[in-house]
Amino acid sequence: MQLIRSARDMQAWSLAARRAGLRIGLVPTMGYLHEGHLSLVQQVRARADRCVLSIFVNPIQFLPGEDLAKYPRDLPRDERLCEGAGVDVVFHPEANALYPPDFSTTVEETALSVGLCGASRPGHFRGVTTIVAKLFNCVLPDVAVFGQKDAQQASVIRRMARDLDFPVEIIVAPIVREADGLAMSSRNRFLTGSLRQDALCLRRALDEVERAYAAGVRGADALQEAMEAVIRRVPSAAIDYIAIVDEHTLAPVAVVSGPVLVALAVKVGATRLIDNTVLGS
Ligand code: PAJ
Repeated sequence: MQLIRSARDMQAWSLAARRAGLRIGLVPTMGYLHEGHLSLVQQVRARADRCVLSIFVNPIQFLPGEDLAKYPRDLPRDERLCEGAGVDVVFHPEANALYPPDFSTTVEETALSVGLCGASRPGHFRGVTTIVAKLFNCVLPDVAVFGQKDAQQASVIRRMARDLDFPVEIIVAPIVREADGLAMSSRNRFLTGSLRQDALCLRRALDEVERAYAAGVRGADALQEAMEAVIRRVPSAAIDYIAIVDEHTLAPVAVVSGPVLVALAVKVGATRLIDNTVLGS
């Protein structure tokens, strides 16, 4: 396994691999890897000859006051996990090399990014699409894999790739959970003491909405209220949003008739967690 630190070296590696006829797969991450990230590596390995995993805590997708400075980092551990998972290249660029002081170009998707996390984190998705476009230009992948855990992010990136004609196949992989149902996330390490147990309210709210849907409830308000009631029982939990939206347009629906994405963001203590499920598919 190789560690590559500069955009230029990454491009040189990828151009050589492409000239050799190899198919390149990319897993973009912010590091502090867990089984969810490693499941994306397996998806790439099933579809490509070489797997590049990028580790970059992207400053421009964090809003002022968010957890950029304390975002967990552990490169040696990440490298060990990558080696074990069969990653060929870890691409770990320096922040000031990717964003020179006079950096002045961004990529913005303007429809799917507006609601859900985009509403509570304005500018976040512009940071995500900008870094992912840059990573595509550095790694030149044939295929890139993202997680359904960040369902809106995956939709936004798929739209960006289509709209800007990136020749990259976008794959979205299922959510990987802890044994008790908590969706894996690098931020779970902030869930200390009783907060770890409290965080299960997201999964319980999704269980509740799945139960209500199975019992025939179709009104979005009723489904949403059933979820809210679950979260409200946990004093350390504060709802950021609960949304029931069309799976493709991410527009809110009043009545569930086709596949919908049920997504929620909840602050548990100081940690903002997200999770989702799809109904009616
Ligand atoms: P990060 O949060 O590190 O996640 C990297 C990738 O792993 C994303 O595609 C995310 O959806 C996926 N992932 C995270 N937890 C998962 C889980 N429990 N199951 C399955 N997949 C999971 O998302 C980002 O980084 C950044 O925004 C990035 C795309 C790298 C741009 O900076």
